[in-house]
Amino acid sequence: MALIIKNGTIVTAKDTYQGDLLINGERIELIGLNIPTAENDTVIDATGKYVFPGGVDVHTHFELPFMGTVSADDFETGSRAAICGGTTTFIDFVIPEKGKPLQQGLQSWKQKAAKAVADYGFHMAIVEYTAAVAEEIPAIIEQGITSFKCFMAYKNVFQVDDGQLLAVLKNAGQHGGLVSVHAENGDIIAMLTQQFLKENKVTPKYHWRAHPAIAEAEAVERAITLADFIGQPIYIVHLSSADGLEKVKAAVARGAHVIAETCPQYLLLHSDLYCQPGFEGAKYVMSPPIRPKDHLEKLWAGINKGYIQVVATDHCPFNFSGQKDMGEGDFSRIPNGIPAVGDRFNLLYTYGVVQKRISLNRFVDVVATAPAKIFGLYPKKGSIVVGGDADLVIFDPKATAKITAEHQNHNVDYSAFEGFALKGLPHTVLLRGKVAVREGIYVGEPGGGKFIPRTASGKEM
Ligand code: URP
Ligand code: ZN
Ligand code: ZN
Repeated sequence: MALIIKNGTIVTAKDTYQGDLLINGERIELIGLNIPTAENDTVIDATGKYVFPGGVDVHTHFELPFMGTVSADDFETGSRAAICGGTTTFIDFVIPEKGKPLQQGLQSWKQKAAKAVADYGFHMAIVEYTAAVAEEIPAIIEQGITSFKCFMAYKNVFQVDDGQLLAVLKNAGQHGGLVSVHAENGDIIAMLTQQFLKENKVTPKYHWRAHPAIAEAEAVERAITLADFIGQPIYIVHLSSADGLEKVKAAVARGAHVIAETCPQYLLLHSDLYCQPGFEGAKYVMSPPIRPKDHLEKLWAGINKGYIQVVATDHCPFNFSGQKDMGEGDFSRIPNGIPAVGDRFNLLYTYGVVQKRISLNRFVDVVATAPAKIFGLYPKKGSIVVGGDADLVIFDPKATAKITAEHQNHNVDYSAFEGFALKGLPHTVLLRGKVAVREGIYVGEPGGGKFIPRTASGKEM
């Protein structure tokens, strides 16, 4: 008894072709033309629709304790929003408490993630590098947590210094791990933040002003230099500015191994949003901040030219009422982050493919294939191949919608993309061969997501 998807247009990072897919259990067993059906088979007619690999979002923060509160989507609501929006696999960040074992952090995240309805992995954040942490890193990699994040910002909270970053690069690298960085100069940010607060400049706009693009550019260049010195690649998370991108380009030109990720907010939103009256700008307070309008097309060009290989979300939502408003009267207390995991796939299709900024195949690459390859999930995840997991999005290019807070799947009271029109939507989504979304409606199983341990070999460009 197989499931057969008939007459779809199959799209991968390399090819677009007409074909059928035969799914047996959790995997794709056959790809071909006119695959015969048996009496007991289930058939999904994909005529007029695209068949994409399920999206892979390698940057989420579900149920994250942060800035005195907890991000508003837990693993259930967040992963449900993800899968309804075409993302079938995500990688969330374990952020261990200082002074506590990494393993304890990992166990805590595993417990929280048990209710996920999409498949998932974890990155491990290193918020201090001690002898105990150094000793634990190989064991963490052995458990399939093969990537690490160091923060060059959030001074006195998560920020590590250059010596610590060098040590993580060396230790993780020796054991096959990939290191990523939040590349902003935390000392510049801390200095400007103190200065603005002293001058009674307390509105959300000053969050943006305290995070100048030069703070990103400086940290991007420093991180690449340190990684190069150790002889390891570096992955830059949530690249936000043309200035940072220029540093990536220069490094690639001199042969450095740098991988860059951006997010829909840096491609589609701009810093005028911080300058709205009242506290409205708090909805867009995130780190790094969104940038002036002229940065946006430069980042799209960076995707097209291959300098940016991944579009993730940095999904980290906080309610406007009851969470963001903790920072009324002091922008430095506004919890950083926005909801986006359910919007990424659709926004990239509409504003990338439909508006002709990127090709259909580049779209699949940046939302699914490249992140799966880079983080050791491929070929199980991220493409449409015989033997791969049947994580598939049957996508109706004719369907339309508008993003609104009221109709979103995120568990939060506003949308950063309010009013954005969408052309093309997931119609049916399969997770390992099971229908999780049918005609746009969620029909998945509680706790249907699975932890995917990753291999340490995924350091591809
Ligand atoms: O504003 C953000 N990005 N919040 C989440 C934490 C991070 O820096 O990734
Ligand atoms: Zn970050
Ligand atoms: Zn993040």
